[in-house]
Amino acid sequence: MKPIKVGLLGIGTVGGGTFTVLKRNSSEIARRAGREIRITVVADRNLEQARKIVGNDARIVDDAFAVARDPDIDIVIELIGGHTVAKDLVLAAIENGKHVVTANKALLAVHGNEIFAAARDKGVMVAFEAAVAGGIPIIKALREGLSANRIQWVAGIINGTTNFILSEMRDKGLPFADVLRQAQALGYAEADPTFDIEGIDAAHKATIMSAIAFGIPIQFGKAYVEGINRLDAVDIAYAEQLGYRIKLLGIARKRDEGIELRVHPTLIPSSRLIANVEGAMNAVVVQSDAVGATLYYGKGAGAEPTASAVIADLVDITRLHTADPEHRVPHLAFQPDQVQDIPVLPIGEVITSYYLRMKVADRPGVLADITRILADSEISIDAMIQKAPEEGENQTDIILLTHQTVEKNANAAITKIEALATVRGKVTRLRLERL
Ligand code: HSE
Repeated sequence: MKPIKVGLLGIGTVGGGTFTVLKRNSSEIARRAGREIRITVVADRNLEQARKIVGNDARIVDDAFAVARDPDIDIVIELIGGHTVAKDLVLAAIENGKHVVTANKALLAVHGNEIFAAARDKGVMVAFEAAVAGGIPIIKALREGLSANRIQWVAGIINGTTNFILSEMRDKGLPFADVLRQAQALGYAEADPTFDIEGIDAAHKATIMSAIAFGIPIQFGKAYVEGINRLDAVDIAYAEQLGYRIKLLGIARKRDEGIELRVHPTLIPSSRLIANVEGAMNAVVVQSDAVGATLYYGKGAGAEPTASAVIADLVDITRLHTADPEHRVPHLAFQPDQVQDIPVLPIGEVITSYYLRMKVADRPGVLADITRILADSEISIDAMIQKAPEEGENQTDIILLTHQTVEKNANAAITKIEALATVRGKVTRLRLERL
């Protein structure tokens, strides 16, 4: 059978890995796909760099739109990133009847509903395994492997940069800014790390997973996003003393009232497997009614791990491209007419537990005042530590862990605690999930 022909847009780290792995494992991949998958044209602005990777194995051009329109191409891989030019390219490829593979989580989180609608109209596939957790086949697992289940929640470490930073802060007791500089020097963090450290990248990925898990539209604008940039190393140390690790989690949970969709630093019991995912690794836990909890672990970034996901999508498309579109796996797991407009809940309605750290005057009755406010707010205390004051000091830290409550209730109690004359400054508040 003739090879299926692929146009690759962007041959940076992931594009280079895709080209290399596809070439190295070509015959093994063809045995799976049923025919050879061949990248016949590569579009990149840096022709010289592209030539170094591609050699004479494919044509190299600098006009990505020409590839999106090329009648000789069956599948377009978009690895350009961002959601301006990449969107136009993906829509142009779809308009020209090409199937698309993309690793672009920002594009799908922001414009996914429009892109998948356009793909349905044209009867083409848009595959995106590489967009979430790199080489971990979490999209396949959520969309296909767990399709018997009612999925209850998904919680993941889905940003390697921030997990690396948190691991280093814990291991070495260093402040965030020092570890960020080190991560940049090592190439783990981008020169502009905003998307990673502010939680935006994780929110893109959590948003995509929420749509597939629950059969809801993609709603990035409704995700609550809080990064690790204001996290204090002292809270990592206190969490450790209480038996918890702090991870940046992307959480999507279905409740009767709606969907919780949130990214924030989260205390997790140290005994959980996911709490022990260190360095730049990713992991996702999915809780479902039939199978219970399942855990997916692996490399969430890098040339070949991400290429592994891109090529798996190429194989899927190669197997299915002659099938009637109605008999293919729906892009977002649920049949398009079965997608439900379940509301995404505002952060004030989220139910979770809390870690509260406050600096207080060391004198009788202080703790009683604080616990009275929590009791009046029906917030139950789960654990507590009070540091002995330093020599000559008349103030100390109190750290409280609470049981679950509605966030707006916790906020109201924190405001009252901060108003006490014996409480100095702001209360540090982190969310806690027992998973
Ligand atoms: N910037 C991402 C991370 C990798 O740090 O995990 C690509 O999704």
